[in-house]
Amino acid sequence: MVSGWIEIKAAGPGESKDLATALLIAAGSPGVQEETVDTSAGKLVSHSLWEDETREDEDTSPVKALKAYLPAGDEAALKTVKADLGRIGWSLETSFLKDTDWSEKWKKGLKPIKVKYRGSSVIVKPTWHKLKRAPGEIMIDIDPGMAFGTGGHATTKMCLKAILRLAKGRRLPKGPSILDVGTGTGVLAIAAIKLGFKKAVGTDIDKVAVKVARKNAGLNRTKLSLTAKDLSGVPGKYDLVAANILAGELTRLSGLLKDKMKPGGFLILSGILETEKASIEAAFTAIGLEKAFSLAEKEWVALAFGKPSR
Ligand SMILES: C[S@@+](CC[C@H](N)C(=O)[O-])C[C@H]1O[C@@H](n2cnc3c(N)ncnc32)[C@H](O)[C@@H]1O
Repeated sequence: MVSGWIEIKAAGPGESKDLATALLIAAGSPGVQEETVDTSAGKLVSHSLWEDETREDEDTSPVKALKAYLPAGDEAALKTVKADLGRIGWSLETSFLKDTDWSEKWKKGLKPIKVKYRGSSVIVKPTWHKLKRAPGEIMIDIDPGMAFGTGGHATTKMCLKAILRLAKGRRLPKGPSILDVGTGTGVLAIAAIKLGFKKAVGTDIDKVAVKVARKNAGLNRTKLSLTAKDLSGVPGKYDLVAANILAGELTRLSGLLKDKMKPGGFLILSGILETEKASIEAAFTAIGLEKAFSLAEKEWVALAFGKPSR
């Protein structure tokens, strides 16, 4: 196995930027950075798509490039992403980065984030950031390693907010259980335990993610049950099921996701682009779930559904 990362610089039409971002993340990039040309100053500016602040100062100049990273040696992922991006008119250049260069570049882009709901807040921060916790705040330390989920991506933030909202909203029983499908760094399952859930199970098809989630569970002194098993092999039914994976996978897994919910339980779906919202809503209401609420941030949407009690 080659140790290091392939840095991908992808360039293409601005209108398909969201899709290109989603394809790069689906290929295994832990995040995507957007580079635009600042026409007033004539220089290149970088925005991390993982950070909170990106929306406010977003400019309207055309996208020049997206930057993403894949583990070196994963030729299959590189080939797939090249073909997928090519189909939507994007071209890419690649270069090799040593592990150390990558982690320094990557670490610089990671910032603590805070999610609030009615006076309660959850902070997710990289382990190397020092922060003081204020009373009533829940703090989660994450070492992302090669897994997705430091809290900064809009899809993760909305999941955290939805979990916080359900946990504080008295709509779940006392000491509820959660199944986190596509756990990545384990951030959602860890947040749930810190919010008073009594049981948290995390699954990920990526064994590396499971290892990273295990490490993060230890760092936060939380007990998670983690597995790389396919969803169909995960036992039990849960008060809350959360899945931050892409829309295609959500649709494919809809029946199984519903099956993992207890009657009266909730399902949070994230990783959905605004343009995919209607079809996901239709797919999950068609199988008998009731829409509870939705959240939106940047081009992403999260949906929450309830399962009728009988
Ligand atoms: C976008 S990340 C989400 C990570 C974290 N839950 C968060 O909210 O930040 C999606 C994760 O889902 C995993 N994944 C994708 N498809 C999956 C599936 N069918 N079953 C389980 N995990 C899956 C990926 O390996 C990846 O770690």
